[in-house]
Amino acid sequence: MIAPQMATQTEVFAKPSVSHAGNKPYNNCFGEVVPGVAVFQKSNGNWLLEETMGEVAKLTLNGQEFELPVRIGTEGNRVIDISKLYQMTGHITLDEGFANTGGTTSSITYIDGELGILRYRGYRIEELAERCDFLEVAYLLIYGELPTAEQLEEFRENIRHHTLLHEGMKQLFAGFPPDAHPMAILSSVVGALAIYCKDSLDPLDENQRQLSIYRLLAKMPTIAAFSYKQSIGQPFIYPQNHLTYCQNFLYMLFAVPSERYRMDPDFVDALNLLLILHADHGQNCSTSAVRMVGSSNVNLFSAISAGICALWGQLHGGANEACINMLEQILADNRNIGKYIDKAKDPNDSFRLMGFGHRIYKNYDPRAKIIKQMADRLVAKRLGSDPLFELAKELEEIALKDPYFIERKLYPNVDFYSGIIYRAMGIPKNMFTVLFALGRLPGWIAHWREMHLTPNKRIHRPRQLYIGYPERPFVPLMKRSPKPLEEVSIKRPLGGPFPGGEFEL
Ligand code: CMC
Repeated sequence: MIAPQMATQTEVFAKPSVSHAGNKPYNNCFGEVVPGVAVFQKSNGNWLLEETMGEVAKLTLNGQEFELPVRIGTEGNRVIDISKLYQMTGHITLDEGFANTGGTTSSITYIDGELGILRYRGYRIEELAERCDFLEVAYLLIYGELPTAEQLEEFRENIRHHTLLHEGMKQLFAGFPPDAHPMAILSSVVGALAIYCKDSLDPLDENQRQLSIYRLLAKMPTIAAFSYKQSIGQPFIYPQNHLTYCQNFLYMLFAVPSERYRMDPDFVDALNLLLILHADHGQNCSTSAVRMVGSSNVNLFSAISAGICALWGQLHGGANEACINMLEQILADNRNIGKYIDKAKDPNDSFRLMGFGHRIYKNYDPRAKIIKQMADRLVAKRLGSDPLFELAKELEEIALKDPYFIERKLYPNVDFYSGIIYRAMGIPKNMFTVLFALGRLPGWIAHWREMHLTPNKRIHRPRQLYIGYPERPFVPLMKRSPKPLEEVSIKRPLGGPFPGGEFEL
């Protein structure tokens, strides 16, 4: 039986029917089908199905039986709670890539990958994308409820006054080489905010936590735009606080001091939509990185800098840039789509269709659907047509009819068409993942805040199954003979430009 967590507040609501992925009927802790109404209780901000208290999973180890509590989320998803497993049995679980492991409870985002459903705080992504502005969604994610008009205005006002960077930070940008990737600049400069904002570093102090949230939401667009300006050798454009969040970012990105900047309202809408669609996605790689790093009680800036680094990889947010590179490559290779589909299917070829597949979605990613519609609109208006967009649509059509992709349930994800929109807006490829980071920021913050508000928060410290040598006697230097090393095959000179000469591994 699970001891209910200490409830800071207790709210109860009734739900007419409960189903989980696949729409199977819900059975309560006694194996009975719940007839009409299931009762949920809010405990420490998380809705838990009260009825499930008492349901257990039985584990037999060396003939001994252990009972593990089963917990059920508000949407009927069931988890076996193993938090006392080591204490009870001396065993841990092993789950490479955490494909079967819930690292936390969370009330922020619900995803049903089988049905292609995504909701922020209970609201459908389709509705939020159509009816909200990005800061409204940021507020919802971070604080749990849609803001009233006054709350929203106050939130905007607080963010507006933090958009400037300390002038000294400009020297950081100047120190980066012109070809530095903007994601590397973004993670470095966001990390450096911890040097310049020393009065908002304590994650356990509510005032400092709040101040760091405003500062980061306000300064990230400025940092992102400055990193782009630095990379193309143009002067930095300072924020204009009368503009909206999205307008301000586009202004800092595209304006130059010598000319009047005319903003296309369609660009503002497209950016607003894309930021909302990227704003959160549960315990993905970068969000888990933010929670992992943040769990040590480090400041928000450092935790988010870690999240930016995690996002950059091509299997995660870096896929939007990689996807456009892939489409360009296919286009240059006589549009030979069949060749690249075959490469993606070949188990001996590391090539994958970028922007395809997802750990959670085994159906069309609902975000990709919305993005494709926006791409249709924007490309038609701005360019008439775009050969890369045409190619992407054809590639999708072919892949979705191919048994390899059908069997593995591989569909376009959020990164497949987003780059097409960015291209139509004139945003360069190396800024695509920076825009993903801008969008994901409220989600990272919401998870970081949720973690710190959880009374039973602990430092994240996974265990491992050790598979190395057992204890062995030390060998003195002169008695050692070469042994094959693990994966060390680099034989090229390293460190050429350094005065100390060349080194070899
Ligand atoms: N192209 C070809 N085959 C694929 C692809 C792909 N894009 N994605 C998965 N597969 C195959 C994979 O080879 C494996 O086949 P088999 O069972 O024969 O070994 C099977 O599908 C399952 O793949 P997996 O690698 O076990 O799945 P995963 O959940 O570990 O990886 C993923 C998920 C997103 C990393 C992967 O689908 C992928 O590499 N996609 C391309 C990169 C990409 O678009 N990433 C963006 C993800 S969405 C935005 C975000 O949240 O970051």
